[in-house]
Amino acid sequence: MKIRVYLLALVVINSCFDIMAQTNSKDLDTKIESILSQLTLEEKVAMCHAQSKFSTPGVARLGIPEIWMSDGPHGVRGEINWDKWGYAGWTNDFATAFPALTCLAATFNPERSEEYGIAVGEEARYRRKDVLLGPGVNIYRTPLNGRNFEYMGEDPFLASKMVVPYIQGVQQNGVAACLKHYVLNNQEVWRNKVNVKVSERALYEIYLPAFKAGVQEGKVWSVMGAYNKYKGQYCCHNEILLNKILKNDWQFDGVVITDWGGATNTREAALYGLDMEMGSHSDGLTVSADYAYDYYYLANPYLELLKTGEVPISTVDDKVRRILRLMFRTTMNPDRGLGRMNNREHLDVARKIGTEGIVLLKNEDFFPIDPNKELTLAIIGENATKALTPGGGSSELKAKDEVSPLRGIKERFKNAKIIHAMGYNSGPPQYGKVIPPKYNNDSLKTAAVAAAKKADLVLFIGGLNKNHYQDCEGGDRLDYGLPFGQDELLDAVVKANPNTGMVLISGNAVEMPWVDKVKGIMQAWFLGSQSGHAIADVVSGDVNPSGKLPFTFPVKLEDNAAHYYGEISYPGVDYEQEYKEDILVGYRWHDTRKIKPQFAFGHGLSYTEFQLFNAEINSKNFEKGDAITISCSITNTANMAGAEVVQVYVGKNKSKVPRAVKELKGFQKVYLEPGETEDISIDIKIEDLAYYDESISDWNLEEGSYTVYVGNASDNISRTFKIRVK
Ligand code: GLC
Repeated sequence: MKIRVYLLALVVINSCFDIMAQTNSKDLDTKIESILSQLTLEEKVAMCHAQSKFSTPGVARLGIPEIWMSDGPHGVRGEINWDKWGYAGWTNDFATAFPALTCLAATFNPERSEEYGIAVGEEARYRRKDVLLGPGVNIYRTPLNGRNFEYMGEDPFLASKMVVPYIQGVQQNGVAACLKHYVLNNQEVWRNKVNVKVSERALYEIYLPAFKAGVQEGKVWSVMGAYNKYKGQYCCHNEILLNKILKNDWQFDGVVITDWGGATNTREAALYGLDMEMGSHSDGLTVSADYAYDYYYLANPYLELLKTGEVPISTVDDKVRRILRLMFRTTMNPDRGLGRMNNREHLDVARKIGTEGIVLLKNEDFFPIDPNKELTLAIIGENATKALTPGGGSSELKAKDEVSPLRGIKERFKNAKIIHAMGYNSGPPQYGKVIPPKYNNDSLKTAAVAAAKKADLVLFIGGLNKNHYQDCEGGDRLDYGLPFGQDELLDAVVKANPNTGMVLISGNAVEMPWVDKVKGIMQAWFLGSQSGHAIADVVSGDVNPSGKLPFTFPVKLEDNAAHYYGEISYPGVDYEQEYKEDILVGYRWHDTRKIKPQFAFGHGLSYTEFQLFNAEINSKNFEKGDAITISCSITNTANMAGAEVVQVYVGKNKSKVPRAVKELKGFQKVYLEPGETEDISIDIKIEDLAYYDESISDWNLEEGSYTVYVGNASDNISRTFKIRVK
């Protein structure tokens, strides 16, 4: 009886919440309509475009506030001038630099995403920003893309699972997240004009899912249109992507914001789903005698079309309704907190995500290095000391304090004799161009080899560095290898001392001609303010690495799907591009074409050992509405606490359409003390096995047999099950 009463109470409470939510949204709509009815046409149009680099006007007459935005996905960017690119030189805009989103994705842990979103949202709130311009979830298609470090890897399911809690975390501060760059912005070459041709199936199966999850599960309040075109129309005002898919099919009720300068046509901007125009190519107060923002596409030109009736007033009303809804969720939300920034908690979140996202790729008893041993440790490589929170483009940060790897290691390895040699040097970060380095690399190399000779162990801390062409917005990498002569330097260092391990700091895969020459390889991402501590935590064994690769490391560039089909596939020809690999992106390509990667998607070693056993499946036969439940036990069989990520992939046998061998459909991270065993279960909805069928423009769940793969990496499957779907 008691249970029934309890359940009844739950139902009543739930329905109250539903009613409250509905009345809230009814209330909200009533308020929006009442404000809308008071606005002049000029005031409505003004709200739809920028008044400065990063703000849009409110309606002062009515006390409706402005909207203020800031980059970026990894932390709140330093204050930009009112009307010119460049920093305003404030002294109160230092912030916490959180790890790059590749690192967050590599944790395979949605709890870390929520912590991340809450913390970065608190900092945006404290800096009085109403929209935080992130997260980015463009799929990792080529290892050359300059902005992969800002995104969540090559798999749509992983990105979908990791982006939702981040959005929810940010928005619980009363700050809008801004999901970007919608969509198909998978490279920086010609990003402002490339017209991407991709099959509808690949669009829906690979490139849209993370955006759909962000909108439908994350309830994101704003979306940023990408610079490029899809089907010949710019993404910032695109009838299919914005009006049909985003606003109609997915019921997105927020604001579509251009990427800065992404608007190109007034009529299209009016009719094809754009709500807010930012960063158009006027530099504010100097281009025209009048107010240059009046020349924006959604400014006077739009006002004209409205006045002549060429475009209906309903278009601006819809935009303003969405903008007012964004305001009620943020700047006009009386209940939102006050935020906070640069505190210990945020640094701890950054450090925890950093340590949990680091991926141990290779280890021949090199890592961990015992911090209590009295040994001579040579730290070689510019990334050991180079500040990496600046650079990279719009996601760069003015970190209050950035702990370098050298500093972190010195503080942790107190008993060691540390010798540092830069080994190579690059120039300072500069958007859009390469500044030559200051020193001659030969002399640096000589000093580095000498340091290696004197050491018991060598840690080479290299990689990319967010300079132009080296993991930076506005340009892709020009080749797959490490820059600044690192390969040759590493060869010389290893010859001088074979006890060498590599700490690779990058947001992309790189070519590794030295992969067999070093005793250990650790993939450390751009880790932000706590880089040095996070790296030292893992190198010393204080933290057992548990990260898994969110994207594949091909042995050579030609092994990557995007680079298999020649120029038309990457970077395109005459601004036309075709994603000819279709759905076979990343491990989907490597598995299906049997091209062994250097390191596989989902790969990541540990300092301990795990055993996965008793894997079971709830049935062999399924139909629509069912769920596959994979249960298994996992034991930490060695003597160090650690975490493992159980991954479940599914593939269709003898499909009537081309398919990848297997696709990630579930994962779970498990933390275990030495000797501890945990039973876990992972559910997969049968509908999630459907493929996108272009002949019906909808998802199609194919009958027949499937294989379910259970393992701890895409190339390390320990159990398979055959199932049938009726
Ligand atoms: C940049 C980026 C975008 C950023 C915006 C504002 O061009 O593409 O991610 O948020 O402009 O800086």
